[in-house]
Amino acid sequence: MKELIRKYLQEASRFEATGPDELEAYRIKYLGKKGIIPELFSRFRNLDPSEKKETGKLINELKELVSNRVREQKEKLETTHSQSSAIDLSLPGEPYQLGSRHPVSIVKNEMIGILQRMGFTIAEGPDIEDDWHNFTALNFPLEHPARDMQDTFFIEKNPDILLRTHTSGVQVRVMEQNEPPIRIIAPGRVFRNEAISARAHCIFHQIEGLYIDRDVSWADLRQALLYFSKEMFGKDTQIRLRPSFFPFTEPSAELDISCMICGGKGCPVCKYSGWVEILGCGMVDPNVLASCHIDPKMYSGYAFGMGIERTALNIYQIHDLRLFFENDIRFLNQFKSAI
Ligand code: PHE
Repeated sequence: MKELIRKYLQEASRFEATGPDELEAYRIKYLGKKGIIPELFSRFRNLDPSEKKETGKLINELKELVSNRVREQKEKLETTHSQSSAIDLSLPGEPYQLGSRHPVSIVKNEMIGILQRMGFTIAEGPDIEDDWHNFTALNFPLEHPARDMQDTFFIEKNPDILLRTHTSGVQVRVMEQNEPPIRIIAPGRVFRNEAISARAHCIFHQIEGLYIDRDVSWADLRQALLYFSKEMFGKDTQIRLRPSFFPFTEPSAELDISCMICGGKGCPVCKYSGWVEILGCGMVDPNVLASCHIDPKMYSGYAFGMGIERTALNIYQIHDLRLFFENDIRFLNQFKSAI
């Protein structure tokens, strides 16, 4: 009988309940009215007195072990149960507000995508620029009134340092460091000391384009801009170039496209003219090439620069530029893709 009890002791101590039913079965098996332990006690009564001491001890040991095990396993099951019920996997997910791209980024990415497919690679320059790259190398003579075209934020302690007024400084940085052929675009933030209004802001974004090689001509510029405009604004888009002036291009022009809203018939976006101004451009001035150690007798090139906000205003028919900078989620959520 002692052997049998020892076997039960081993068996009972190894028990691990995986669920409440299994635990209850275990309890009944040992402690139930017709269970192993009451059965052992009844057999105990008929034992030879010399056997009683040791056998009684073993039965009590078994009873204690099983009672403790039932208590322990019950606690364990309760805690794992309450943990798993805290996470209800069938509940729907937390509502999660998805953001959307900023309209300026949408338009910018669209422009970059088209220009990259045309063979332009992205170049970058610093927002805080020096006078040489923003003005002097771009053929703005010192004290020349052309510097007033763009109201500049200068750094007070050092007037040689300023916030770039256009991305054209990147042209200089790239030409200084690379041999032609050069074909880059430079998207970036620019700054002008202007009163903030519905049509102007002190911060906005531009994309600059520059192509330098042998025999680059005005026809190349015109064709590149026509291709870009059709890709960006639709295949029926027409362009026109109006003579203009920039110190760093000669000749210079401004590019208009047929209005992307009315197709040229006249509407409030094009102020009933049928045309919308998109960018400034021209053939890179030989003085600029020379400033950047590129021989103007050997190489020529074209450059263009366009405002991203202004284009986004036209595409989305937004009437106030300030909305782009106010970060009102109700405004920003409305833009999914350009045209
Ligand atoms: N930098 C000019 C501007 O900010 C645009 C431009 C770029 C014009 C390149 C010609 C060539 O208005």
